[in-house]
Amino acid sequence: MRPKLLLVSGSLRERSTNSAVLRTTERLAHSSWMPVLYRGMGDLPPFNPDCDALPLPPAVADLRAQIQEADVVLFSVPEYAGDLPGAFKNVLDWCIGDPSSRSLSEKPVAWLNASTRGAVHAHESLRRVLGYANATLVEGACLSTPATESLIGDDGEIADPEIKQSIVLALSVLSASVSPLPTPCSLQSAQQ
Ligand SMILES: Cc1cc2nc3c(=O)[nH]c(=O)nc-3n(C[C@H](O)[C@H](O)[C@H](O)COP(=O)(O)O)c2cc1C
Repeated sequence: MRPKLLLVSGSLRERSTNSAVLRTTERLAHSSWMPVLYRGMGDLPPFNPDCDALPLPPAVADLRAQIQEADVVLFSVPEYAGDLPGAFKNVLDWCIGDPSSRSLSEKPVAWLNASTRGAVHAHESLRRVLGYANATLVEGACLSTPATESLIGDDGEIADPEIKQSIVLALSVLSASVSPLPTPCSLQSAQQ
C-alpha cells in the first residue's frame, strides 16, 4: 500500500507559490504515495487551550485526523514579517496538544522552501516549532524550490524542470523514512 503524504501549505493566497509547489508535488507523488493537500487552514479557530478538549472544534478534529492518517507530512510555508505566517503557526499550535500516538510526534516531516528570498527566519521558526512537536525532521528532504507566480501554469502547477526535479528528489528521500518503502519516483518523471 502506498504511504500517505499530507501536504500543508502555509499560505491562504489564491495564487500562492507555496500551494503551487505542493499541488505540483501532489501530482508528482501519485505513483508512489497517496498524497493529500490539507485545505482546512482558513477554517481553524484561533488556538485556545480552553477549546483543546472533547468535543474538539470540527476543523481541529479534521486537522488532527489528517495528521494522524499521514505517514509523512510535507510543508511549504512563506515568511511574513520575518517569521511564520500567523495562520500557519495556528495549525502547528493545534497539533502540539494532540495526545494520539499518530500525532506529529516522531512523524517524519520535511519542508520545501518556495521563497525566492530565502525566508530564513520562517524556516528557523518552523524547525524550532517542529522540535517542540517532537516531529522527526528528514533533513535531506528539506529542499529549496524557489518559485515566482509567473511559473504557475493554468493548471495551478509549476512546470519548471528544476523545481520538479527538487520535488522528486525530496519525495525520494522521504520514501526512505517510511516503511514499507515505496518505489522511489524516477528523476525521469520530473521531465513529464
Ligand atoms: C506583508 C508581507 C510581509 C512579507 N514579509 C516577508 C519577509 O519578512 N520575508 C520574506 O522573505 N518575504 C516576505 N514577504 C514575501 C512573501 O513571503 C512572498 O510574497 C511569498 O511568495 C508569499 O507566499 P505565497 O506566494 O505562497 O502566498 C512578505 C509579503 C507580504 C505581503
